[in-house]
Amino acid sequence: MPQIVVLTGAGISAESGVPTFRDADGLWEGHRVEDVATPEGFDRDRATVQRFYDERRAALRTVEPNAAHRALAELEETLGEGLLVVTQNIDDLHERAGSRNVIHMHGELLKAMCRSCGAVVPWEGTLADEPVCPKCGAADLRPDVVWFGEVPYEMDRISDALADAALFVSVGTSGAVYPAAGFVQHARRHGARTLELNLEPSEGSHFFHESRQGRAGELVPAWVREVFWG
Ligand code: NAD
Ligand code: APR
Repeated sequence: MPQIVVLTGAGISAESGVPTFRDADGLWEGHRVEDVATPEGFDRDRATVQRFYDERRAALRTVEPNAAHRALAELEETLGEGLLVVTQNIDDLHERAGSRNVIHMHGELLKAMCRSCGAVVPWEGTLADEPVCPKCGAADLRPDVVWFGEVPYEMDRISDALADAALFVSVGTSGAVYPAAGFVQHARRHGARTLELNLEPSEGSHFFHESRQGRAGELVPAWVREVFWG
């Protein structure tokens, strides 16, 4: 079981050039959540939703991991399974930085899910052109992302890890979306020390033992140095 659980949100990828959701110019400024991030929105206007995620999938090719992603990967090199990264992000920047022990609780842009047979397959291209499922042949693929009203992935594993962790760190998340927003209380109730690293105090800042404000690209490497050198 991991000693340290790190929860990451859109803020950790902001310095890589991936827009966040709720900040000024964030993704939810230009789109209505209920149109592009709910099962009902998908049923109403499939093409718009597919295009929204197709654009974001294509944009991944233009961005690179930053110092915060790299610092977490370096920490995993030393701690191995002693570190678990739970991310709300659907980008692949943790993996490209070298992290392996990562749970994508809101799914992954680079995977598609077949609504007919349930297969989850790697996906790099577009979905708006209605490609068929490589497993069953149905033209019924959707992005493998968790929408509002759906249940996030691997909650049992996450819950167990939080209960066992000595330290819980939250990086670059507004604390506006449950269940991730409740992880700090869960970990703390089970005895973890809790630390927030975010550009500004999040909605749940007061739940943490300590909250540091600044850019993830600076705060995360500085915190990792503390873990290494005390
Ligand atoms: P909710 O109860 O509908 O769903 C929350 C659950 O869905 C959580 O378990 C969450 O982890 C999960 N989820 C599903 N898809 C997600 C995604 N794409 N990103 C993050 N989490 C996702 O949501 P709620 O928080 O109780 O909010 C109710 C409604 O308020 C939402 O359905 C949405 O329409 C709206 N909302 C708007 C904003 C915004 O920024 N404008 C933010 C949150 C919610
Ligand atoms: N360094 C650190 N924190 C940053 C930086 C940065 N360079 N830039 C922005 N932030 C902070 C913001 O201050 C904000 O508190 O990151 C946070 C980003 O919050 P959101 O945009 O709300 O993103 P997130 O918390 O990941 O959203 C949660 O909501 O819509 C869903 O599926 C979506 O997974 C996402 C979930």
